[in-house]
Amino acid sequence: MRELGTVDDGAVLIASGKIVAVGTTDEVAKHKLAGKAEEIDCSHSVVLPGFVDSHTHPVFTAPRLIDFEKRTAGASYEEIAEAGGGIRASLRGVREASREKLADFIRKALDEMAAQGTTTVEAKSGYGLSFEAEMKSLEAIREAAHQWPGTVVPTLLGAHVVAPEHRDDPEEYVRIVCEEMIPAVSSLRRNRRSLGSRPPEPQKQRLGKERRALARDDNHKSGRDSAAKAARLPPFARLAEFVDVFCERGAFTMEQSLRILRSAVEHNLGVRAHVCQLTPATLAPLLHFQPASLDHMDFVSDEDMAVLAKLDTVATLLPAANYFLGLDSFPPARKLIDAGVPVALATDYNPGTAPTPSMPFVLSAACTHMKMSLAEAIVAATYNGACALRLQDRKGSLEPGKDADIAIFDATDYRELPYWFGTNLCRETLLAGIAGSKRQNQG
Ligand code: NIG
Ligand code: FE
Repeated sequence: MRELGTVDDGAVLIASGKIVAVGTTDEVAKHKLAGKAEEIDCSHSVVLPGFVDSHTHPVFTAPRLIDFEKRTAGASYEEIAEAGGGIRASLRGVREASREKLADFIRKALDEMAAQGTTTVEAKSGYGLSFEAEMKSLEAIREAAHQWPGTVVPTLLGAHVVAPEHRDDPEEYVRIVCEEMIPAVSSLRRNRRSLGSRPPEPQKQRLGKERRALARDDNHKSGRDSAAKAARLPPFARLAEFVDVFCERGAFTMEQSLRILRSAVEHNLGVRAHVCQLTPATLAPLLHFQPASLDHMDFVSDEDMAVLAKLDTVATLLPAANYFLGLDSFPPARKLIDAGVPVALATDYNPGTAPTPSMPFVLSAACTHMKMSLAEAIVAATYNGACALRLQDRKGSLEPGKDADIAIFDATDYRELPYWFGTNLCRETLLAGIAGSKRQNQG
């Protein structure tokens, strides 16, 4: 995780949304397509693979300011949830909103993420908590994804908490998730985007910094034109690629979580879980389902770290949630990495614990509060994030054949990204070669 493979005075050549050559400017200039390429001047810039934000909850309609205010007065996340705030407080807005309205909110969040260097986003449902509202949430994710030039990986999080109307009979809610929601999202539907799943090979990373010239072809200059993207969409896809569950006190028990993940696997969906966020848990039963990622992991045990080190499952750490909840402790990144566990970083963008679209902020929190090295943080936010979504063959590094997902920063050293926290250094983002965000003042 410490190998960045930086290239000084580097260049990337792009054609038809893919990277075709990477190296020094002199090397790339010799490529046969380089002569007719349009050039983007990246002098005095850091060029990175676009961030892969592998854990977000963008389907909500309003901030939870009352929760926030209560927390500043000393209440804990769990106390607020028990008093009627928390996840269930976001439910009404989602149930009442139209799919189009939800898609607008999601699209706005995706644009804000791209403006800070993110090009691939995992997006969960989870604030509808009924069959209809969860399907509507996933359809809104799909609609927003079609309008956005980047890549969106949809996840069903019907099992975020038990819906209020099933509070007295949580087993019935688990049944609805297993027998109604999961079968529905796993069936192929026309014109939806599908993403391949392959086993990950986490840890190693190559990317470049200070690429002083970056060339690309003209095929994808259409910018926000969704037609260019629609042309790349497969004719059929599922509403969700993954199923997630919040396995935690006050949400779902381990036994309920296992039933949900078993149903997901039976329906050929990938699995992931929120676990060990507030309380410890033994991971072995979850690992039986080969999750792509286990997320939060604040209370993971040393024994489970040793087990995880032998597996492909990524530990996705979400320090923005710890920051925003005002916690003293952060996920044990150092111990996980030193034990050999592949670690990813993501925002956890959501209205309760992490209302930030900013991967650079997450990098900064990881370096300052989790003692990750700056290089480890970059790898965790790019290549290992791609592994957490099983997209490492297409995403997460600047290599020929991969998608041209690139973030360009106004900095001359990648270490400036976590250093200048709160400042957005991202000047331009290319999403599969499409200019998805460009700062206005840059012309
Ligand atoms: O990842 N922990 C569960 N889900 C979110 C919080 C959701 C919310 O509070 O709205 C998280 O922190
Ligand atoms: Fe989350």
